Amino acid sequence: MLRAIFRFLYKTLLKPILFLFDPETDHDLFTKIGEFFGKYSLSRKVVRAIYGYHGPDISKTVDGIHYRTPILLSAGFDYNGRLPAILPSLGFGGAEIGSVTLRPCEGNEKPRLGRALKSKSLIVWKGLRNDGVDTIISRINSKKQQIPEDFVLGISIARTNDQQTATLDEGIADYCGSYQKLVTANVGDYYTINISCPNAFGGETFAEKSRLDALLSKLSVIRDSKPLYIKFPINPPWEEIKELLDVCIRHQVQGVIIGNLNKNYDDLDYREEAPAEFRGGLSGKPCRVLSTELIRKTREYVGKSLTIIGVGGILTPQDAHEKIDAGADLVMLITGMIMEGPHLISDIADSLALRNKV
Ligand SMILES: Cc1cc2nc3c(=O)[nH]c(=O)nc-3n(C[C@H](O)[C@H](O)[C@H](O)COP(=O)(O)O)c2cc1C
Repeated sequence: MLRAIFRFLYKTLLKPILFLFDPETDHDLFTKIGEFFGKYSLSRKVVRAIYGYHGPDISKTVDGIHYRTPILLSAGFDYNGRLPAILPSLGFGGAEIGSVTLRPCEGNEKPRLGRALKSKSLIVWKGLRNDGVDTIISRINSKKQQIPEDFVLGISIARTNDQQTATLDEGIADYCGSYQKLVTANVGDYYTINISCPNAFGGETFAEKSRLDALLSKLSVIRDSKPLYIKFPINPPWEEIKELLDVCIRHQVQGVIIGNLNKNYDDLDYREEAPAEFRGGLSGKPCRVLSTELIRKTREYVGKSLTIIGVGGILTPQDAHEKIDAGADLVMLITGMIMEGPHLISDIADSLALRNKV
């Protein structure tokens, strides 16, 4: 009932006001509010009373990790690790922090974020803006007391977005540096290697079989017992995706996240909402079909040998069902929460519970 009221208020009142402002300003404001609410047990309880999932058990264990709900916040929203204390109150079973990089990144020049409202998409030109792995490790550690034990934290690792990591060896050393620090600090329940950021210096150089092979060989020296996932691009042709999957299986990574932003502006419902030239990947609706079809093909190709986390364009509970039916073990989202409202997560959880009953 409370959730229904806030669903109505978000659509009719809050969203029209918020969307008058610059998206990055809104994001920073919400991060500050969310971090503040996460600090206190009372505010966490209030948020949980409004937005939390209170239905039957829909928990799931994947690669030995128990998720209270199979719905996660995707990488890029909480890129500095400020929100893990409040996110469980919204119905999430986990969150992927980051992408983090070895050195702090300023990101690309502003504007770094745009809205394509009619097309239900965000235009993301962030360029891996984040405080760097050391600061983020300390921040997460400082919040440990406020994060429920069964809330899963994944950490997404990307290559620092600057000239110093432009060569293959420097790029690999950069990924390994972050991974080593996280493993040593024992921060995070699983790790994701983001090889597919479309907005970084030098392009997505590790979404290529021989480079991915070289990267995974070096990472394997550091590997601990926690699951390692690879975040895939969704635009390359299937033949190239198959080659990347073969490399993942050969290196015994636990799974893949499908997938990252869509680089094709022709997939927008309203093409005129995007800039004429490429300036950032698309989230939301333009990712939905592409990622779901890729999940389906991947599941057919790899069988049970890889976990699949499905992400891209989940704007309704039905969209989450589609990803799971296509073969995803867990789902993730960002844009749906922004476009539809924070009630979406528990709406999806309710609908999954209903489906389990049928
Ligand atoms: C503002 C924003 C920033 C993002 N930054 C990252 C990132 O740092 N690392 C990453 O792996 N994916 C990043 N992504 C991609 C998302 O994790 C996700 O794959 C994509 O947005 C599709 O999901 P959605 O349609 O539910 O938003 C970002 C997406 C958005 C909207």
